[in-house]
Amino acid sequence: MTTAESASESSQAGEFDLGATLAERGAERYELHTRYLNHQLPRMLHTIGFDKVYERAEGAYFYDADGNDYLDMLAGFGVMGLGRHHPVVRKALHDVLDAQLADLTRFDCQPLPGLLAEKLLAHSPHLDRVFFGNSGTEAVEGALKFARYVTGRPRILYCAHAFHGLTTGSLSVNGESGFRDGFAPLLPDTAVPLGDLDALERELRKGDVAALIVEPIQGKGVLEAPPGYLLAAQELLHRHKALLIADEVQTGLGRTGDFYAYQHEEGVEPDLVCVAKALSGGYVPVGATLGKDWIFKKVYSSMDRVLVHSASFGSNAQAMAAGLAVLSVMENEQIVAGVRATGELFRSRLAALTDKYEMLADVRGRGLMIGIEFGRPKSLKLRSRWAMLQAARKGLFAQMVVVPLLQKHRILTQVSGDHMEVIKLIPPLIIGEREVDRFVDAFAAVMDDAHDGGLMWDFGKTLVKQAVANR
Ligand SMILES: Cc1ncc(COP(=O)(O)O)c(C=O)c1O
Repeated sequence: MTTAESASESSQAGEFDLGATLAERGAERYELHTRYLNHQLPRMLHTIGFDKVYERAEGAYFYDADGNDYLDMLAGFGVMGLGRHHPVVRKALHDVLDAQLADLTRFDCQPLPGLLAEKLLAHSPHLDRVFFGNSGTEAVEGALKFARYVTGRPRILYCAHAFHGLTTGSLSVNGESGFRDGFAPLLPDTAVPLGDLDALERELRKGDVAALIVEPIQGKGVLEAPPGYLLAAQELLHRHKALLIADEVQTGLGRTGDFYAYQHEEGVEPDLVCVAKALSGGYVPVGATLGKDWIFKKVYSSMDRVLVHSASFGSNAQAMAAGLAVLSVMENEQIVAGVRATGELFRSRLAALTDKYEMLADVRGRGLMIGIEFGRPKSLKLRSRWAMLQAARKGLFAQMVVVPLLQKHRILTQVSGDHMEVIKLIPPLIIGEREVDRFVDAFAAVMDDAHDGGLMWDFGKTLVKQAVANR
């Protein structure tokens, strides 16, 4: 019997059959989304021509039905740190399923969470304990709750433009009104400009601040605080008996060329660190809140409080196995060193283009978290076109670049943050020179077109019309 026959037989018998289901219904993907899920996603994808049908993926590439390869510079918003379907992670997941462990009994202690905590903590020796949840936002929620509980203070400070997730606690420390509007009241909070120590101290003097939460490099705009900020902020916070929370959900696990991005600056020792995304191996959602011993001891201060912060799926065997496999690959394949080398090559190749293209204003970031910022052109010919886009909405030029990168060059990127002329590159950490070359060549071709006033400006006009219609 062929695989197709057996698939169809089990399907007829009424059992769920993944292959048969996808074969029968896969073509309805966009309609199903439109009917049952967030209908704006397919609408947006159709509008910008991103409505592709990807059939499979491996490493840093997706493939469509005709076998065309698409280079991934987005890594599923950073979860695909090791690229897609890394064989070691896949094997770990097959193994954990086959082992039929007595998982999630909730009243025993399984070995895998302890082993993963031990490995994660080995990378941050000043921290002692881990809470496992199921996502980045949950890792942040844990940190916010822990900080408020152990300090007995209500208020959390965060940085302008910050992104820490979209559940209600994390939303309270979100630096963009577009995400927050309409969801008030949120937790008591205050934004301080990233890098502004005076503003931080002014708030701390009020005596009601539990913590400052900060992304060592902000995901929105790829913005980094000035050197020395984290260390000075930490000292100020501790002097005022408040905590430093480092949100490493995106920057952690090697993304910026250090295991945790805060390690770039000597002496920075956050009280709580949030990790998620890449720890999943791209397969099993996971979040981790790492913290100092005294914080955990105070939160879980008695047996009565054993479940005071917990999650039904937290520490599940699949997530733990994926995490352990990811960390072992990171060690064995020397991922962090690779990120540093490839990141340097990538940024220097891109930075070399800033002299050539007047609208290319800045290339920044660390490791494989790279921001490309566009700016107002000097030449008259381009200035009126730029002004037309800016008048409609800031960020449209960056959108105009992202579209041909996919349409013409089969490279997936994203605009970073609303109302910013920035593209963010967060490719899988396993990319090498080949991928850097492909991106830089494609990007230069798109920039040539933009500076020659080519076809992409027609698409710009469509974007302007939409932006005006959406007001
Ligand atoms: C810095 C940071 N924190 C938290 C989150 C939220 O993570 P999740 O989407 O897994 O809830 C994100 C997601 O992009 C993030 O970039």
